Amino acid sequence: MRKVNLVDIFKHHITRKYLRRSGVHHAVTAAQYAFEIAVDKGVHVDHAAKAALLHDIGHYEWYNNEGEWDYDEYRQNDIHAIKGAERAHKLLIRLGEDRVAAKEISVAILLHTDSYLPFSLEGKQTPLQEVITQADNKDEQPKGLHHYKQMEVSEAIQELHKLDQQIDTILSKETVPNKFIG
Ligand SMILES: [Fe+2]
Repeated sequence: MRKVNLVDIFKHHITRKYLRRSGVHHAVTAAQYAFEIAVDKGVHVDHAAKAALLHDIGHYEWYNNEGEWDYDEYRQNDIHAIKGAERAHKLLIRLGEDRVAAKEISVAILLHTDSYLPFSLEGKQTPLQEVITQADNKDEQPKGLHHYKQMEVSEAIQELHKLDQQIDTILSKETVPNKFIG
């Protein structure tokens, strides 16, 4: 039995506040993709879905004076993975998440991109971190348009509830502890 599920995380006011900036649609879609990829690769499905849901909560003000996202300026100055990892960890601990899981998830958020690092992460990521990168890339659109796709809160809760049930089903079938990687 999981201590915290995706709907718990999504409903928290901190999540809602930051996902308004980076896009509920992108977060939910990335969580769905991460679940599918994690199933495929034998990666921990709960950690993967949670990290993907929260991977962009570190985004901060990137809109220019016209209310549009200045993609180039944002790319140059972005540290959303660092801020996201810290926010996600604080949030998960507040919600009562297991501390080991909270660390795994927040480090996966920290390393889901190397855009802010002076080196490439290629070949250096754990399987969980790779899943988050792949799930994020799968939903990415040019010029960051994936952040603007809309999804109603009620639809997001419905989708995350379905995903929670799928995760519970998989975890309940898991009899050998620590089979999953990451
Ligand atoms: Fe993303």
